[in-house]
Amino acid sequence: MALTACGGDDSSDDTGSDAGSGSEAAAGKIGVILPDTESSVRWESADRPALEAAFDEAGVEYDIQNAEGDAERMTQIADTMIGNGVTVLAIVNLDSESGAAIQEKAASQGVATIDYDRLTLGGSAEYYVSFDNTVVGELQGQGLADCLGDKKANIVFLNGSPTDNNATLFAEGAHSVLDGMSNYTVVGEQAVPDWDNEEAATIFQQLYTAADGKVDGVLAANDGLGGAAISILEGAGQDGKVPVTGQDATVEGLQNVLAGTQCMTVYKSATQEAGALADVAIALVNGEDAEVTGTTVDSSDDSEVPSILLEPQAITKDNVGDVISDGGQKAEDVCTGDFADLCAEAGIS
Ligand code: BGC
Repeated sequence: MALTACGGDDSSDDTGSDAGSGSEAAAGKIGVILPDTESSVRWESADRPALEAAFDEAGVEYDIQNAEGDAERMTQIADTMIGNGVTVLAIVNLDSESGAAIQEKAASQGVATIDYDRLTLGGSAEYYVSFDNTVVGELQGQGLADCLGDKKANIVFLNGSPTDNNATLFAEGAHSVLDGMSNYTVVGEQAVPDWDNEEAATIFQQLYTAADGKVDGVLAANDGLGGAAISILEGAGQDGKVPVTGQDATVEGLQNVLAGTQCMTVYKSATQEAGALADVAIALVNGEDAEVTGTTVDSSDDSEVPSILLEPQAITKDNVGDVISDGGQKAEDVCTGDFADLCAEAGIS
């Protein structure tokens, strides 16, 4: 049944409904649970608005919530959403175990599930929507190698959360590039629980001290972890001298790239990812098969999950403007204060 659409969307922050202009409004309701607000600013600053735009455009009812880093809270939100009649539930799991339990319960109530961004190992999601996360890691590894060049270099790896399958793939991708380069030595490597930025600074400080400060490059898995490493390098007067990688093309990450304290970041368009999620969710609501790019193997049981995997893009000083022209960030947010001149130099206005 088509829902009537009216021009404006007067819905509250986290719920939307029938505001679409599209003619094929779906008669279902989509629930999305984002993981937290701290492991990356992307979830609230990029994903939420992109998801709202995609669902509004499709004219489908939705409810987007954030679990605030608490798996129990995610479970409760899922229960409430199911009680409120969502037909499709997409989650960014906080760990595979709790994610799989949420999906199992949803399935028992006839609710289809989608893994958004992170694959739930041992889960039962009908589809997985993400970027090619191994390629993300490869771009980071290659980016760091490009910044370091041919010299001999000691590298520290600051990996993402051990409970995030993506973090495993990022590290694998980066290792696949860097381990083959005989001039590099990995002198420290640690995963950062929950991608916690403060803990990342502590961990990096320890790795840095253990290596006697002989660290020439840092493979940091996202911009938040990169920022943590940069803060420690700054204390040692080494910021800008030791290349650091990142991911998410956050405002801070892009500013660090422009300032030269971060060697690169990885841009993953939230508009693309949210749009892909909306397409898949609407297909499920309509009882149709979604178009996929392939399957992803769940390493816990070798099952294959139909997937849409998008292409990430490496960003260095030379192409920060690409993120802005693609709508990934606004120039007015990146080019504040001291960054105005750096933006002008980089041709960003
Ligand atoms: C996402 C990254 C994000 C990280 C921390 C990963 O699963 O793919 O984009 O930076 O989680 O939230």
